[in-house]
Amino acid sequence: MPWEPDQYLKFQKERFQPFDDLVFLIRMREAMTVVDLGCGNGELTRRLADLLPGSTVTGIDSSPSMLEKAAAFVRPGLSFTSGEIGSVSGQWDLVFSHAAIHWVDDQASLIPHLMSLVKPEGQLAVQLPSNHRHPSHALILETAREEPFASALAGWVRHSPVLEIDEYARLLHQAGGRELTVFEKVYPHILPDADAIAEWTAGTTLVPYFERLPAELHDPFKERYRQKLRALFPGSPILYTFRRILFTAIRGNGGS
Ligand SMILES: C[S@@+](CC[C@H](N)C(=O)[O-])C[C@H]1O[C@@H](n2cnc3c(N)ncnc32)[C@H](O)[C@@H]1O
Repeated sequence: MPWEPDQYLKFQKERFQPFDDLVFLIRMREAMTVVDLGCGNGELTRRLADLLPGSTVTGIDSSPSMLEKAAAFVRPGLSFTSGEIGSVSGQWDLVFSHAAIHWVDDQASLIPHLMSLVKPEGQLAVQLPSNHRHPSHALILETAREEPFASALAGWVRHSPVLEIDEYARLLHQAGGRELTVFEKVYPHILPDADAIAEWTAGTTLVPYFERLPAELHDPFKERYRQKLRALFPGSPILYTFRRILFTAIRGNGGS
């Protein structure tokens, strides 16, 4: 997908909050081997590496534009490489992923795969957005089903593959995970107005729509979507509630 790192960075402060919550759940040890799946522009991977003394950290992402930005954060013990979350191999003390695995469609197959990347007694730590029932997301699907967008997209819309939290717990347990922590949290963001929600989703949820729509329909799509948001979130400032799922598991000694 054609990620635009600068668009994504517009809400940097808000995106750091769940990172801090996830880091708090990490069982820290000296000199860990760590992989960050869907590392994006590498800024949070660098933060993670700096918090883990003596660690060797590899950030993996499929987006060339994100990896280009990540190059600025390389240092001894921290590197970045191109790859698909679902195809990564190897074993690490910590398998970390922040705001990325919701782009993988088959979550039920992904969780055992992620657990297989964790060394025995190592840890999987994941945060993923689960805000797909919020109007900011539902209105994207509604807009995509209207003309001229529906024809241009040939009827395509992206349904969220994100599961309920108890299902993640079940999958982690089944894959040999123990000491499970699985929860969902609402992050309340105060934004200037409804248009700011459209700016937010332009850096994430809208990306695959803009990838498929011809360039001349990008602005009309955004404007139709903004009109719907303005009707639901009038005035200034507005509260944008954002749900996220956080989970961690230790891989049992016998593996999965
Ligand atoms: C929302 S960004 C998050 C980046 C970073 N982890 C952060 O929290 O700032 C999602 C990242 O996941 C990457 N991504 C999405 N699907 C992927 C896949 N199947 N394999 C590898 N990377 C993927 C995107 O390229 C993008 O950089």
